Amino acid sequence: MMRDTAWLSKKVHDSPYTSYYIEDTDELTVTLLREMAKLFPQCERSNQEDSSLQFKLVEIEALGKEGFEILHMDGKIIVQANTTNGLLYGMFQLHQDLVTKNELKPVFRSVPDQAVRMLNHWDNFDGSVERGYAGDSLFYDNNQFRKNYDTIREYARLLKAIGINALTINNVNVHKEETFFITQPYLSEVKAIAEIFKEYGLTLYLSINFAAPISVGGLTTADPLDEDVNKFWADAANEIYAEIPYFGGFVVKADSEGEPGPFVYDRNHDDGANMLARALQPHGGIVIWRCFVYNHLQDWRDRSIDRARAAYDNFMPLDGNFDDNVILQIKNGPIDFQVREPVSPLFGGLTKTNHVLEFQVAQEYTGQQKHVCYLMPMWKDVLDFDTKHHKENATVKELLPKNSPNIQRSGISAVVNVGIDNNWTGHKLAQVNLYGYGKLIWNNAITSEEVLDQWLDLTFDLTPKGKEILTEIIATSYQTYENYTAPLGIGFMVRPNHHYGPDIDGYEYDRWGTYHFADRNGIGVNRTLKDGTGYARQYADARFEEYENIETCPDDIVLFFHHLPYTHVLHSGKTVVQHIYDTHFEGYEKVEEYVKVWEQLKDEVDEASYNNVRERLAEQKRCALEWRDQINTYFYRKSGIADEHKRQIYG
Ligand code: GCU
Repeated sequence: MMRDTAWLSKKVHDSPYTSYYIEDTDELTVTLLREMAKLFPQCERSNQEDSSLQFKLVEIEALGKEGFEILHMDGKIIVQANTTNGLLYGMFQLHQDLVTKNELKPVFRSVPDQAVRMLNHWDNFDGSVERGYAGDSLFYDNNQFRKNYDTIREYARLLKAIGINALTINNVNVHKEETFFITQPYLSEVKAIAEIFKEYGLTLYLSINFAAPISVGGLTTADPLDEDVNKFWADAANEIYAEIPYFGGFVVKADSEGEPGPFVYDRNHDDGANMLARALQPHGGIVIWRCFVYNHLQDWRDRSIDRARAAYDNFMPLDGNFDDNVILQIKNGPIDFQVREPVSPLFGGLTKTNHVLEFQVAQEYTGQQKHVCYLMPMWKDVLDFDTKHHKENATVKELLPKNSPNIQRSGISAVVNVGIDNNWTGHKLAQVNLYGYGKLIWNNAITSEEVLDQWLDLTFDLTPKGKEILTEIIATSYQTYENYTAPLGIGFMVRPNHHYGPDIDGYEYDRWGTYHFADRNGIGVNRTLKDGTGYARQYADARFEEYENIETCPDDIVLFFHHLPYTHVLHSGKTVVQHIYDTHFEGYEKVEEYVKVWEQLKDEVDEASYNNVRERLAEQKRCALEWRDQINTYFYRKSGIADEHKRQIYG
């Protein structure tokens, strides 16, 4: 079967632009020419004077290294940028505009809002993907490199077309064999992959294991202040850069969920990160150090420990201690990619350290690419979130570059959702999340609706009615998913380990620190300063006050901050327990509707996609019913309060 080419599947055929001009400048020109042939097959190369489509290098400071302009006048189109890399972004944008019949403006300028626009693969050398829901790894199989370079090249094209500029290709949990990726013979294989991404201007990074000086170097310690350890990393960096001079650097998960780190040696994260930074610095490399650090061996009996506090407690005191080539990577919320969480207080908190935000495109907690769940609305909420650290312009999207001392070292990263499956993402409709992620982090102002509209036009040939149906399914899917799963920002309630399907008490008496504390009177975690864990105090004053007080705390995250009686009346006017019943009935009904209306698209989408989505919607319906009934029954049993509308709740 031909591989699904996603948002690059359509070609520009019926346009008046039949000739193009590209100056031969650098090695990326080869890529530009190749893409012209693929995307604009009826366009012939020509000289500047008589071509209707021109790609020109210019010197316009405001465009920076990656921005571009598309000028449309006198029947001609001129794409211009300061670099060939910028021209490539411009070419993909033009392709998209012409395919979706977007009306071309006389001058369209596009410059990315975030400098680092990255993806993290959680791929293992054995071919599995941690939290992967689209088949095995694109890169590895059975402890070997797949060497499927054509597929990797297709992938690089897809990423470039949505504006991504960097990626890691191995899991943040770096297992035994992958620890050796920083050495030969693995390095040559890594290089072969890095070369392909470089054809598209993407920079490759590796996740490394902090204990590599021991396992790879044969030392007795990985202490960041030990001289031999420093030498080990400096030598490793020399070897890597001798092989791959354009290598990006390291991504590090340290002292997190059992991974080694500086804490083992009574050192801190700045010691660890700066040690690696010094090794990479002579080569222009970067250390991306994750803030996902918390006590994963918690005693559920001990209510004084709060996992939500951990990232801020660990990293805020270190603000300003990190080298210029260190970037901290912070998950969007304080816990772990739940469908609804407050925004991490480190955004707006950190002001003296380069940092990037981390999203999860992979749907670990949002239906695992068996359920349709459009994540754009959530990501928009996070980027637009006003931290209230200043009177004006204190949204996360604005503070990321502003609060990073080196703007070039700020931005957004995400756990990607692709695998070897023919359609890349397992669920065909999960493609929209990858597409949207790229588009959003390039242009933070783009709306969920715009992204969805573009993706639909690039992907299918729908009638207006068909488009309406599919738009409704995708646009409502995030709210629907939230409705039938854990309520009011409480999170988790998923099956332990694999995290799919309901298990309300699955983590309640476990060591992971993700509790809901439901009892016969109420539910929720008291994170107030007054008499809770104090997490609320990690925010700027205005947000702190808002979250601290039950009168002002928003409904959708209220159980994240407060333990409330089931009879507590929300701002919506409903009691907590009635809200739970209502949303769970509504959520399931919505999925029933998706299943029905999808059938109307049978003749509008290709057979593979039709069947793929139909099968997954059937599974979503089964699972949503399970969620609905388990949650409703659980809270009915705990509270003894009947549904006002007398719907069926199993006792
Ligand atoms: C989650 C996820 C893990 C992952 C971790 C991380 O806890 O379940 O599989 O390793 O996040 O982000 O490091």
